[in-house]
Amino acid sequence: MDLVVDLPARTGRSDALYRALREAMTQGRAAAGERLPSTRSLARDLGVSRASVATAYERLVAEGYLESRTGSGTYVTAEARGEAGAAGRRRAAGALRPRASWRWAPLPVSGDAPVPEHDFRVGLPDASLFPFDAWRRLLAAESRLRDHAPGTYGSPAGLPRLREAVARSVGFARGVRADPDDVIVTHGAQHALDLVARVLLEPGDTVAVEDPGYPAARDLFASHGARVVPVRVDEEGLVVDEVPPEARLVYTTPSHQFPLGLPLSLARRRALLAHAARHGTAIVEDDYDSEFRHARRPLDTLHGLDRDGRVVYVGTFSKSLLPALRVGYLVAPASLRGALLAARQLGDGYGPVHVQAALAGFVDDGLLARHVRRASAVYAERHAILLDALAGLPLEPVPSAAGLHVAAYFDGDARAVAARARRRSVALDALADYAVRPCREGFVFGYGAAVTSSIRPGIEKLARLLER
Ligand SMILES: Cc1ncc(COP(=O)(O)O)c(C=O)c1O
Repeated sequence: MDLVVDLPARTGRSDALYRALREAMTQGRAAAGERLPSTRSLARDLGVSRASVATAYERLVAEGYLESRTGSGTYVTAEARGEAGAAGRRRAAGALRPRASWRWAPLPVSGDAPVPEHDFRVGLPDASLFPFDAWRRLLAAESRLRDHAPGTYGSPAGLPRLREAVARSVGFARGVRADPDDVIVTHGAQHALDLVARVLLEPGDTVAVEDPGYPAARDLFASHGARVVPVRVDEEGLVVDEVPPEARLVYTTPSHQFPLGLPLSLARRRALLAHAARHGTAIVEDDYDSEFRHARRPLDTLHGLDRDGRVVYVGTFSKSLLPALRVGYLVAPASLRGALLAARQLGDGYGPVHVQAALAGFVDDGLLARHVRRASAVYAERHAILLDALAGLPLEPVPSAAGLHVAAYFDGDARAVAARARRRSVALDALADYAVRPCREGFVFGYGAAVTSSIRPGIEKLARLLER
């Protein structure tokens, strides 16, 4: 019998042993008819008195889990097994069901999948570029939790030092005017969207999203009971004229439209802000990967153009550093701050302080800026190689000057081609995978995780599939 038992130092040892043995049997870790160790040998192995073992055995015999055969030993009964089987079955199925309107199941996790030879999966940075040694040193220095008021609860907004660092860096890099108090540190962009949805949306409210767009945002808003309305994207980005006037919230990716990759034009940015002012709409600006810029000066953020406090700016370290850090942030207008902080407190309190402190040090020491500079050069090269490799193919790349992916239109069944490509270890998605309504056919090529030398051969393999 596989016995895991954590015995208390003094009293209650017989009781703890009784529970551990019973659990082993009800979890099916002991077979019917299995012989238990003698009281003497188990007592010796566990460092307890023989009387404690004998008492535990006697209780289990009295309850029918064990039987004592004179002169032979103590055995697990068939009844104990039967109970284990029934208990096991009950546990496997479970009697509980999600609420009636819940229709989401967990998606496959990218980390669980084998790494393809030609990795054009979307949304993954190159972890090999991350300065692990510097991070480990910072994390080790901050792991002295004693320095972080360990016995008290911290602010749901996050560590002040990290909020200061974020406010400074989004101000400098993205023209987002933010005081540290405007910043709430989250577990990534997804958590920021969840907080915003919690405080802004009533069930049945309309949320406008880009189509094609980011499924995780769409599903999140729907999971809060919103009516999610897909809005077309053209060569200037979100078609603002088609945003329903009743939309309570518009979710957009203006710097690098997900998944098409184009920026929202300045005219459309202004139109969206005017729409929001006219109809009292909240705008959520998801700026998830624009740290990596391959050409020209970026357009001002919606947040930077907003004069009314209608934009919630969302950022993340998932692409600029690593998704595994699970750190992102939002910059909210003062009118929402209290509600968002309460939502954060109700949900999970606040994030791990030592990680936030290490990250603040990482930003303050200039390591983030240095990493982004180095990684940008690598990604810019991959971006250029990819575009060059795509040039001769029957594809129409969508202009994109930032981020970690490029889309390309294709006159054919992109989903079928992508499925065949995946079988040849070329991992890429079809644009239709991101769309609610029928959209123009095409592919999305992530190049964050693609080994530079694997890009050309991967596109050559794809080219052969396109010829068919
Ligand atoms: C559009 C968009 N927003 C946000 C994120 C990042 O989410 P998180 O910060 O929760 O990792 C991604 C990652 O793929 C994304 O594609």
